[in-house]
Amino acid sequence: MHEIAQRANPEAKVVYVDNEPVAVAHSELLLENNPNAVAFEADLRDPDSILGHDKTRKMLDFDRPIGLLSVAVYHFIPEADDPLALAARYRAALPGGSFLALSHVTEDSMGDQVRQLVDLMRASQNPVTPRTKAQFTAMFDGFDLVEPGVVFTPQWHPESPEDVGERPQDSAVYAAVGRKP
Ligand SMILES: C[S@@+](CC[C@H](N)C(=O)[O-])C[C@H]1O[C@@H](n2cnc3c(N)ncnc32)[C@H](O)[C@@H]1O
Repeated sequence: MHEIAQRANPEAKVVYVDNEPVAVAHSELLLENNPNAVAFEADLRDPDSILGHDKTRKMLDFDRPIGLLSVAVYHFIPEADDPLALAARYRAALPGGSFLALSHVTEDSMGDQVRQLVDLMRASQNPVTPRTKAQFTAMFDGFDLVEPGVVFTPQWHPESPEDVGERPQDSAVYAAVGRKP
Protein backbone atom coordinates (compact mmCIF):
# COMPACT_ATOMS: atom_id res chain seq x y z
CA MET A 1 0.00 0.00 0.00
CA HIS A 2 2.79 2.48 0.88
CA GLU A 3 4.27 1.89 -2.60
CA ILE A 4 1.05 3.11 -4.23
CA ALA A 5 0.60 6.07 -1.88
CA GLN A 6 4.22 7.12 -2.11
CA ARG A 7 4.24 6.75 -5.89
CA ALA A 8 1.47 9.36 -5.94
CA ASN A 9 3.20 11.47 -3.30
CA PRO A 10 6.67 10.53 -1.98
CA GLU A 11 5.85 12.42 1.23
CA ALA A 12 2.74 10.28 1.92
CA LYS A 13 2.85 8.84 5.45
CA VAL A 14 1.72 5.26 6.02
CA VAL A 15 1.09 3.32 9.24
CA TYR A 16 0.50 -0.43 9.13
CA VAL A 17 -1.05 -2.36 12.02
CA ASP A 18 -1.46 -6.10 12.49
CA ASN A 19 -1.86 -8.33 15.53
CA GLU A 20 0.29 -11.05 14.01
CA PRO A 21 3.95 -10.64 15.10
CA VAL A 22 5.37 -12.34 11.99
CA ALA A 23 3.39 -10.04 9.68
CA VAL A 24 4.68 -7.01 11.61
CA ALA A 25 8.30 -8.23 11.60
CA HIS A 26 8.08 -8.76 7.85
CA SER A 27 6.65 -5.26 7.32
CA GLU A 28 9.33 -3.71 9.53
CA LEU A 29 11.99 -5.34 7.39
CA LEU A 30 10.41 -4.03 4.20
CA LEU A 31 10.10 -0.52 5.64
CA GLU A 32 13.60 -0.34 7.14
CA ASN A 33 14.74 2.43 4.80
CA ASN A 34 11.43 4.20 4.48
CA PRO A 35 11.21 7.21 6.81
CA ASN A 36 7.54 7.79 5.90
CA ALA A 37 6.11 4.37 6.73
CA VAL A 38 5.99 2.32 9.93
CA ALA A 39 4.39 -0.88 11.18
CA PHE A 40 3.49 -1.95 14.69
CA GLU A 41 1.70 -4.75 16.46
CA ALA A 42 -1.72 -4.00 17.89
CA ASP A 43 -5.22 -5.39 17.90
CA LEU A 44 -8.01 -3.78 15.89
CA ARG A 45 -10.28 -4.49 18.87
CA ASP A 46 -8.30 -2.02 20.97
CA PRO A 47 -8.71 1.26 19.04
CA ASP A 48 -6.97 3.38 21.69
CA SER A 49 -3.80 1.29 21.40
CA ILE A 50 -3.73 2.07 17.68
CA LEU A 51 -5.06 5.63 17.50
CA GLY A 52 -3.05 6.74 20.52
CA HIS A 53 0.15 4.86 19.63
CA ASP A 54 3.30 7.00 19.47
CA LYS A 55 4.02 5.84 15.92
CA THR A 56 0.50 6.77 14.77
CA ARG A 57 0.67 10.19 16.39
CA LYS A 58 4.17 10.92 15.07
CA MET A 59 3.47 9.75 11.55
CA LEU A 60 -0.10 10.96 10.88
CA ASP A 61 -1.50 14.48 10.97
CA PHE A 62 -5.03 14.23 12.39
CA ASP A 63 -5.76 17.80 11.23
CA ARG A 64 -5.72 16.63 7.62
CA PRO A 65 -7.72 13.92 5.82
CA ILE A 66 -6.52 10.36 6.38
CA GLY A 67 -7.17 7.20 4.38
CA LEU A 68 -7.99 4.27 6.67
CA LEU A 69 -7.91 0.87 4.98
CA SER A 70 -9.16 -2.12 6.96
CA VAL A 71 -8.99 -4.62 4.15
CA ALA A 72 -10.18 -8.19 4.71
CA VAL A 73 -9.94 -7.91 8.49
CA TYR A 74 -13.36 -7.17 10.07
CA HIS A 75 -14.59 -10.70 9.27
CA PHE A 76 -12.05 -11.87 11.87
CA ILE A 77 -13.93 -9.85 14.50
CA PRO A 78 -16.76 -11.91 16.06
CA GLU A 79 -20.08 -10.30 17.00
CA ALA A 80 -19.06 -10.59 20.67
CA ASP A 81 -16.39 -7.94 20.00
CA ASP A 82 -18.98 -5.61 18.41
CA PRO A 83 -17.40 -4.81 15.03
CA LEU A 84 -19.99 -2.08 14.38
CA ALA A 85 -18.98 -0.20 17.52
CA LEU A 86 -15.32 -0.62 16.60
CA ALA A 87 -15.88 0.74 13.09
CA ALA A 88 -17.78 3.68 14.62
CA ARG A 89 -14.86 4.41 16.95
CA TYR A 90 -12.40 4.54 14.03
CA ARG A 91 -14.76 6.66 11.92
CA ALA A 92 -15.11 9.13 14.77
CA ALA A 93 -11.33 9.51 15.06
CA LEU A 94 -10.92 10.51 11.42
CA PRO A 95 -10.95 14.17 10.40
CA GLY A 96 -13.52 15.45 7.85
CA GLY A 97 -12.59 14.64 4.25
CA SER A 98 -11.02 11.31 5.29
CA PHE A 99 -11.71 8.08 3.45
CA LEU A 100 -12.51 4.65 4.89
CA ALA A 101 -11.93 1.56 2.72
CA LEU A 102 -13.25 -1.81 3.88
CA SER A 103 -13.68 -5.26 2.46
CA HIS A 104 -15.48 -8.15 4.13
CA VAL A 105 -16.41 -11.79 3.50
CA THR A 106 -20.11 -12.40 2.91
CA GLU A 107 -22.37 -15.40 2.49
CA ASP A 108 -25.04 -13.35 0.69
CA SER A 109 -24.24 -14.92 -2.62
CA MET A 110 -21.74 -17.63 -3.13
CA GLY A 111 -21.21 -20.95 -4.79
CA ASP A 112 -20.80 -24.20 -2.88
CA GLN A 113 -17.01 -24.06 -3.13
CA VAL A 114 -16.75 -20.70 -1.41
CA ARG A 115 -19.26 -21.75 1.22
CA GLN A 116 -17.13 -24.78 2.03
CA LEU A 117 -14.06 -22.52 2.29
CA VAL A 118 -15.85 -20.16 4.66
CA ASP A 119 -17.04 -23.12 6.74
CA LEU A 120 -13.45 -24.34 6.94
CA MET A 121 -12.24 -20.87 7.96
CA ARG A 122 -15.05 -20.61 10.51
CA ALA A 123 -13.67 -23.69 12.22
CA SER A 124 -10.01 -22.57 11.95
CA GLN A 125 -7.76 -20.83 14.48
CA ASN A 126 -8.83 -17.51 12.95
CA PRO A 127 -12.57 -18.04 12.55
CA VAL A 128 -14.32 -15.93 9.98
CA THR A 129 -17.71 -14.28 10.55
CA PRO A 130 -19.33 -13.51 7.17
CA ARG A 131 -21.70 -10.53 7.17
CA THR A 132 -24.60 -9.36 5.03
CA LYS A 133 -24.59 -6.35 2.74
CA ALA A 134 -26.68 -4.44 5.29
CA GLN A 135 -24.23 -5.25 8.11
CA PHE A 136 -21.28 -4.24 5.93
CA THR A 137 -22.95 -1.02 4.79
CA ALA A 138 -23.65 -0.08 8.42
CA MET A 139 -19.88 0.11 9.00
CA PHE A 140 -19.92 3.30 6.90
CA ASP A 141 -22.69 5.01 8.86
CA GLY A 142 -22.45 8.80 8.44
CA PHE A 143 -19.97 8.53 5.56
CA ASP A 144 -20.82 9.15 1.89
CA LEU A 145 -20.18 6.02 -0.16
CA VAL A 146 -17.95 6.63 -3.15
CA GLU A 147 -19.24 5.26 -6.50
CA PRO A 148 -20.09 2.43 -7.14
CA GLY A 149 -21.07 1.94 -3.46
CA VAL A 150 -21.03 -1.51 -1.87
CA VAL A 151 -20.14 -4.10 -4.52
CA PHE A 152 -18.28 -7.37 -4.81
CA THR A 153 -14.53 -6.71 -4.92
CA PRO A 154 -14.08 -7.43 -8.67
CA GLN A 155 -16.71 -4.73 -9.37
CA TRP A 156 -14.89 -1.97 -7.48
CA HIS A 157 -13.29 0.14 -10.24
CA PRO A 158 -12.17 -2.77 -12.43
CA GLU A 159 -9.49 -1.96 -14.96
CA SER A 160 -11.06 -4.21 -17.59
CA PRO A 161 -14.25 -6.29 -18.05
CA GLU A 162 -12.10 -9.40 -17.55
CA ASP A 163 -11.39 -8.21 -13.99
CA VAL A 164 -15.11 -8.48 -13.22
CA GLY A 165 -15.71 -11.84 -14.89
CA GLU A 166 -19.06 -13.59 -15.24
CA ARG A 167 -19.76 -14.07 -11.53
CA PRO A 168 -18.20 -11.34 -9.37
CA GLN A 169 -20.41 -12.56 -6.51
CA ASP A 170 -18.26 -15.69 -6.32
CA SER A 171 -15.54 -13.52 -4.75
CA ALA A 172 -17.80 -13.60 -1.67
CA VAL A 173 -16.16 -10.38 -0.54
CA TYR A 174 -17.82 -6.95 -0.42
CA ALA A 175 -15.78 -3.80 -0.90
CA ALA A 176 -16.59 -0.13 -0.49
CA VAL A 177 -15.03 3.24 0.21
CA GLY A 178 -16.70 6.00 2.19
CA ARG A 179 -15.82 9.66 2.67
CA LYS A 180 -16.37 11.51 5.92
CA PRO A 181 -18.32 14.72 5.18
C1 LIG B 1 -6.66 -11.49 5.05
S1 LIG B 1 -5.32 -10.64 5.79
C2 LIG B 1 -5.41 -9.06 4.97
C3 LIG B 1 -4.13 -8.31 5.09
C4 LIG B 1 -4.12 -6.96 4.35
N1 LIG B 1 -5.14 -6.07 4.89
C5 LIG B 1 -4.27 -7.16 2.89
O1 LIG B 1 -5.33 -6.83 2.35
O2 LIG B 1 -3.33 -7.64 2.26
C6 LIG B 1 -5.95 -10.29 7.39
C7 LIG B 1 -4.92 -9.72 8.32
O3 LIG B 1 -5.62 -9.24 9.47
C8 LIG B 1 -4.86 -9.53 10.61
N2 LIG B 1 -5.78 -9.54 11.77
C9 LIG B 1 -6.73 -10.45 12.07
N3 LIG B 1 -7.37 -10.10 13.19
C10 LIG B 1 -6.81 -8.93 13.61
C11 LIG B 1 -7.03 -8.08 14.73
N4 LIG B 1 -7.97 -8.36 15.64
N5 LIG B 1 -6.26 -6.97 14.85
C12 LIG B 1 -5.30 -6.69 13.94
N6 LIG B 1 -5.05 -7.45 12.85
C13 LIG B 1 -5.79 -8.56 12.70
C14 LIG B 1 -4.23 -10.89 10.31
O4 LIG B 1 -3.09 -11.12 11.10
C15 LIG B 1 -3.90 -10.73 8.82
O5 LIG B 1 -2.60 -10.23 8.62
